[in-house]
Amino acid sequence: MERLKKEKQGRTELMWWPSKECKKRAFVKSKKIYEEAGKNPIKFWENAAKELVWFKKWNKAFLFEPPHFKWFVGGKINISYNCLERNLEKRKDKIALIWEPEPINEKTRYLSYYELFREVNKFANALKELGVKKKDVVGIYMPMIPETIIAMLASARIGAIHTVVFSAFSPEALRIRLKETNAKVLITADGYYRKGSVINLKKYADEGVRKTDVEKVVVVKRIGKKLRLRRREHFFNELIEGQKEYCKPEAMNSEDILFILFTSGSTGKPKGVIHVCGGYTVQAYLTTKYIFNLLDDDIFWSTADIGWITGHTYSCYGPLLNGATFVLYEGALDYPKADRWQQMIKKHRVTVFYTAPTAIRMFEKEVAKVKEKLDSLKIIASVGEPINEEAWLWFFKEVGKERCPLLDTYWQTETGGILITSLPGVGPFKPTFAGLPFPGVKVSILDEKGNECKANEKGNLVVLPPFPPGMLRGIYKNEKKYRETYFSKFGNKIYFTSDIAYKDEKGLIRIVGRSDDVIKVAAHRLSTGELENIVEKDKRVSECAVVGIPDKIKGQVIAVFVVTKTKEKIKKEEINEILVKGIGKIAKPKFVFFVSELPKTRSGKIMRRILRNLLTKQPLGDISTLQNPRCVEEIKKVIS
Ligand code: WT7
Repeated sequence: MERLKKEKQGRTELMWWPSKECKKRAFVKSKKIYEEAGKNPIKFWENAAKELVWFKKWNKAFLFEPPHFKWFVGGKINISYNCLERNLEKRKDKIALIWEPEPINEKTRYLSYYELFREVNKFANALKELGVKKKDVVGIYMPMIPETIIAMLASARIGAIHTVVFSAFSPEALRIRLKETNAKVLITADGYYRKGSVINLKKYADEGVRKTDVEKVVVVKRIGKKLRLRRREHFFNELIEGQKEYCKPEAMNSEDILFILFTSGSTGKPKGVIHVCGGYTVQAYLTTKYIFNLLDDDIFWSTADIGWITGHTYSCYGPLLNGATFVLYEGALDYPKADRWQQMIKKHRVTVFYTAPTAIRMFEKEVAKVKEKLDSLKIIASVGEPINEEAWLWFFKEVGKERCPLLDTYWQTETGGILITSLPGVGPFKPTFAGLPFPGVKVSILDEKGNECKANEKGNLVVLPPFPPGMLRGIYKNEKKYRETYFSKFGNKIYFTSDIAYKDEKGLIRIVGRSDDVIKVAAHRLSTGELENIVEKDKRVSECAVVGIPDKIKGQVIAVFVVTKTKEKIKKEEINEILVKGIGKIAKPKFVFFVSELPKTRSGKIMRRILRNLLTKQPLGDISTLQNPRCVEEIKKVIS
């Protein structure tokens, strides 16, 4: 990396540019691509689409009926065909997937493109045998094992819609998602390893399917413990036994739903984000190619769980669409020892390593100095929340050894693929800045009135049409929410991200954080409203407010303020339990406070800002709209 240090108004600005070697390997070597794509983004995405196999070519590339849009209209495609068959000719025996179990004495599994093709086809036939049809919803509640990838691809192959539910989510969270989508089949496992313990996933799945429309349950034997199955349940291995090794892929319309993935918004209920067959495939393919720059000798490891969008796009579809080899790891990055992630990079000669700031900060805390050379690495990357300068520099120096470009990739569940990041062969890499929008992606930063902000002025990050093809097509069964959340703040032609950002003089973008009540705990997206709803369901609770407060490792942690009904008593541990049961371990609060009143505006809106500022010892700001200023004193006492 060439380093540039610039004195700017008395402070030093750090910036790196790709080395010659880095440029040489890169698909994109020059800035010209931005100009070309910018002139005609529709053509740019069409050219990318042409690199894939379509059963029928589209007749209209982009159709905009605000706030709805379509891509590759009239085209027919299948993502599983493009992930598998498209690679069979040249890469039949190339390893597609390296699976690393958490227990170190267990064997690594390798699946070649051909083996993956065969397993997916067999399982696709098995799903058909279970009665799954095109457009049916298949729930996937699975750990990080190869069968999860097989299940997703098999479901896509027969035109079913998958909805993956994070394996650490509670049965309650699973049930809400299965019910909302009327899922017909659930694929799960008998368990998995996490930090050395066996997690009994089947038990949670049993609870979660109760009172849903699920008719069949498929169980993968991961742990291999003895289970007695009920009539509607089948073992995965028994189901695929004897199945034919070929299942014709469904020719899907470009705008048919590929999957639904739930995420948290600013209100109480999780939203089912819709992604479609054509556009998503194209964006997953091209962003993986240009950003992670996967060549035939690369080994890509993205640490994100398959239950999140990063898992979908960059631990499954993106690498496979590019014929790449990728690593899937079952367990914790610091188990059995803090350096497990380093051992993984060494063992598998990982060349591209993609993780989250919360993990980076944990690595830094646990192993300040990285003694391993990690010389296989070529690109390192981060996602999920803003990366602070200290963590950026540590990752760049200790892991990338000042040799690898550090890509800070900004995107959302809703955008399906990366929107903003510097490209490895172009740069520049500036600590805490995501960089330029991906070619063909148009973004802007607007003030409250909708005017474009000047350099260094903070504002609302928006996406302008033609929206990249992988962006969401709607919220499942909730058109109103789609319009309200994304297409109302600046009209129905501008997508509002809910993030605050600014540009520097060069146009490099820095993401500051959310403008709504979404919080990020160890890169997991949670909504304060959703957490509050869960706590308020308890009959003893009168009302509650949840705020996210900064944390050195996790980015943010949860603080809950509870007002109980008169004479009712409730313990801190009970609040913890309610949240863990309602969502999962990730929702366990760091602080629970009992108060008699919450700060509110005259219209009755809870002023979370006041709670947050009290906790972080910041000035309270304008409190003239506060209806009950006296509560501040009590809260101060309770939290001290
Ligand atoms: C929110 C979306 C999409 C991958 C995982 C997160 C924040 C994401 C960055 C980044 C600063 C980031 C934003 C965004 N975010 N990446 N590189 N820098 N903030 O997906 O759970 O849908 O969360 O994560 O606030 O809106 P998600």
